[in-house]
Amino acid sequence: MTRILKINPLNPEMEKIRKAAAVIRSGGLVVFPTETVYGIGADAFNADACARVFEVKNRPMDNPMIVHISDLDQLHDVAADIPKKVEDAVKILWPGPVTFVLKRNPHMPPTERRTMLDLISVRMPAHPVALRLIELSGPIAAPSANISTKPSGTRAEHVEKDFNNRIEMILDGGDTAFGLESTIIDTTVEPYAVLRPGAFTLIELQKFLGEIRVPDSINRSLKDDEIPKAPGMKYRHYAPDCRLAVADSKELLLSITGRAKENKKIAFLCSNEMADSIGNNAITIRLGSERNLYEIGKNLFDSFRRLDSMHIKCAIIQRFPERGIGLAIMNRVMKASDSNIISSLGEFDAFLNGSGI
Ligand code: TXA
Ligand code: MG
Repeated sequence: MTRILKINPLNPEMEKIRKAAAVIRSGGLVVFPTETVYGIGADAFNADACARVFEVKNRPMDNPMIVHISDLDQLHDVAADIPKKVEDAVKILWPGPVTFVLKRNPHMPPTERRTMLDLISVRMPAHPVALRLIELSGPIAAPSANISTKPSGTRAEHVEKDFNNRIEMILDGGDTAFGLESTIIDTTVEPYAVLRPGAFTLIELQKFLGEIRVPDSINRSLKDDEIPKAPGMKYRHYAPDCRLAVADSKELLLSITGRAKENKKIAFLCSNEMADSIGNNAITIRLGSERNLYEIGKNLFDSFRRLDSMHIKCAIIQRFPERGIGLAIMNRVMKASDSNIISSLGEFDAFLNGSGI
């Protein structure tokens, strides 16, 4: 049985934190909220507990986990040869939604199970529940709390569905604030490179870290024979069960909705403003206001999961500007849709045909 404890996200009840920390210390798995998405955590120094995370997530063995810490001393327990630039930057950026790939401290076990990477990724989450938990349990290795390839869990209900009694505990701290994962920066190359755009925008990070390179391949899934820097880049990710495509422009999205009128098997994920223009012409799922892309980001994964529960066969999502947080939004959208961008009505018809409707 999974114990589900509702916990105050801002001022967590310490007896609940103590219970959760005891589970981690005895080798169990605890799902906990962070400011980005929920994590499924194990004692980072316990290789057997970490192996179980891979098992319950059905996670590819070569995909390493992020180690979560609660104070800067722990950074030295898990990483080695930390660049001065990073040491200085984390004093200001942490706790917060940015993860650094660093050299692994040889005292700690690798956080993937195949290639024994000598790298490790570390972050200090800006969430009272996560911080209090790690203070009592020590560093926690935690990927996002979702079955591999599925959208990350942004509320406890998502997680309960995915892990149905296969983990010891869920700390339910309500909806997560960003709804998109942390930004991952590789500090083992010069200039530093972004491996995954995320909740912390690059413009802000560059102020502390200097130039950050954005690799061309950032928004696509790599081919089988391509060797990724972040192994997670290789796999389809964040995907709803149905087929998903991106409408190239708002104008096209509007004409498509006219075309798809009364078709109950197709849904449109779009901004509130766009949904107002579409009106009752088609099934829409509102992501939030275009004037606040953070709201769109926060609702994105939940909207994917709503598609699943509505048994929608295929969905079209609006394209958002790839600036600021929009970079992370479009990165998840491109991976979830396998970079399927529709730029004409003809392509839309082909997409519908291909979806069997
Ligand atoms: O916001 C987040 O980062 C959330 C919360 C729970 O902290 N965690 C998260 O973890 O998104 P996960 O495992 O779903 O994604 C981590 C990504 C993976 O794509 C993985 O390949 C990459 O980070 N990664 C982890 N360790 C790495 C390493 N040592 N070298 C390169 N990439 C690494
Ligand atoms: Mg993940």
